[in-house]
Amino acid sequence: MRAVIVAVTALVLLRAGDAGAGPLDTPGYDKAFACSACHGAAGNSRTDAMPILAGMSPAYFKKAIEDYASGRRPSPEMEPYAKMVRTLGADAVAGYFAAQRREPPAGKVDRAAVTRGRAAAAACAACHGDTGKGDAARAVPDITGQPAGYLRNQLMLFKAERRSPGDEALTKMKSVVKTIPDDTLADLAAYYSSLGR
Ligand code: HEC
Ligand code: HEC
Repeated sequence: MRAVIVAVTALVLLRAGDAGAGPLDTPGYDKAFACSACHGAAGNSRTDAMPILAGMSPAYFKKAIEDYASGRRPSPEMEPYAKMVRTLGADAVAGYFAAQRREPPAGKVDRAAVTRGRAAAAACAACHGDTGKGDAARAVPDITGQPAGYLRNQLMLFKAERRSPGDEALTKMKSVVKTIPDDTLADLAAYYSSLGR
């Protein structure tokens, strides 16, 4: 909460002293402002648990927002913000984050885990592609360069049927993940996190 207050104060001060064009003039910035408390400045999260939003495909972004807002993808943290994005206009917020330059995730690269993860990635390439960049036309997200902790946590949620339970589009992915030991899921998270650094 304190971070939010400090950030809002900073915003007011910046606006007061703002003569020329700056980050505040980027379309959608005002609507995306509340997100920075958790997802970092311009959507470049600096913590291992929080996903990076910078450069995210608008289609995947909007699906995530709809799923959180409807409660289909349960998250007590995201549900209120997803509802807020719906009210503000998901297109503007999605467009703002898609236009931001993605920075590498925080956290060290565990080389041994990356090597093991690369060897296990064939099971994922059918959908996420050899590069992990996904396939926007099939609503398969880019999973490269996200924090390893976030990717690992999502894989465990898929495995336990706690991410979007009952979403038929995800049945196939979940059946693949359920056959993979937890340690290997952690290796896969390290591998995909390391791509694009
Ligand atoms: C209180 C902290 C918090 C705030 C503020 C917040 N988020 Fe999130 N966000 C999270 C967490 C935690 C997750 C991961 C939830 C999960 O397990 O699915 C997440 C996930 C997401 C995802 C899904 C990412 C993916 O790769 O699937 C999107 C999109 C998102 N947030 C957008 C936003 C937007 C837009 C805002 C501002 C309007 C916002 N968030 C504000 C905590 C927050
Ligand atoms: C049958 C196709 C398919 C296969 C195989 C597959 N995925 Fe996915 N994956 C998807 C789809 C579709 C989504 C989008 C989920 C959604 O819409 O919420 C996804 C989402 C994810 C996410 C969440 C990304 C985010 O930003 O929250 C991760 C992580 C992931 N996949 C990792 C993997 C890994 C690792 C493997 C291999 C073990 C794998 N996937 C295999 C289709 C697949």
